[in-house]
Amino acid sequence: MPFLSHGRSPDRPGFQPRTARRVGAALLLMSATAIAGCGTSKTPDILNAKGPIAAKEAWLFWLILIIATIVFVLVTGALLYSIIRFRARPDSPAPRQLAGNTKLEIAWTIVPSVVLFIVLVATIATMLGLAQPTNKQALRVTAIGHQWWWEFQYPDLSIVTADELHIPAGQVVQIDLRSDNVIHSFWVPQLGGKTDVIPGHNNSMWLQADAPGGPYRGECAEFCGTQHANMDFTVIVDSASTFQTWVANQQLPAAPPTQQQLTQGARLFAQGQCVGCHQINGVNKLATVIGPNLTHFGSRILIAGGVLENTRDNLRNWIANAQTVKNGSDMPSFGSTYSSSDLDALVAYLESLK
Ligand code: CUA
Repeated sequence: MPFLSHGRSPDRPGFQPRTARRVGAALLLMSATAIAGCGTSKTPDILNAKGPIAAKEAWLFWLILIIATIVFVLVTGALLYSIIRFRARPDSPAPRQLAGNTKLEIAWTIVPSVVLFIVLVATIATMLGLAQPTNKQALRVTAIGHQWWWEFQYPDLSIVTADELHIPAGQVVQIDLRSDNVIHSFWVPQLGGKTDVIPGHNNSMWLQADAPGGPYRGECAEFCGTQHANMDFTVIVDSASTFQTWVANQQLPAAPPTQQQLTQGARLFAQGQCVGCHQINGVNKLATVIGPNLTHFGSRILIAGGVLENTRDNLRNWIANAQTVKNGSDMPSFGSTYSSSDLDALVAYLESLK
């Protein structure tokens, strides 16, 4: 490019070509690290859409990003060109004086208006396209934000679960959002969202997944207290027949204990403090929900508000040291309440509740 030849010597102090290469390499490394960070399984990729809502949102994102990038390159390019090409030099004559340019002024009023109008139309079309289809039978789910875990009720199926939402592929799922405490926000990035969960206000949203898959990570997207970051859940998309099997199993009362250790665990649950907050269908019935319903606890992937994998070691640690794992949650630490063998029995019993 000819205007570069007018530049000052590039080897002046502070602008060594080697310095520029080092800065460039560092920036490249930083951006590569940032992009690589998005690929971990724990982090949902909002552009890896698994349902029609997320796909429409991702399409709008790409459209606006492409338009914004073209505008950025054109404006910045013109700016840089002008700065370098028309900079003052020792022997420069006085620049030509302009009183204005009507054609240019009309052009730079109309062109941005057209660009913004395109973005407006695309955004409104996407918003209208996100309305819940009224001609399709919806599966109804009530998602209740507690501090800090999610309860999922299937009112038409008499199922209550926690931290894990099962939905059938290809079906519209209407999610009624409730909170009995503060404002949360329900979001499954790969399927769509996000919608505020407001106490005293009946919000709702809908989701649909294209094909069986998951688990997809869902999360609370509104600051709701000290453990807001630890208020996750999983969404598992089943085929129609797998979903029916899951429903049939979830509708059963808890499996009765089949051997001595499990019987001891069941007794500890029923006679200890657990029944004050947790319900196991067929064992006890709570008037007010405080902690997750544990009827099919052993079938869940995550526990403790979506922060721990459901393994024996994690459950044991959770029961013994809940306030260390998740400080401020309603679950007390029972490490000094139960003996080691009692803890083992309780863990074995809860994990047997498939
Ligand atoms: Cu609930 Cu943040």
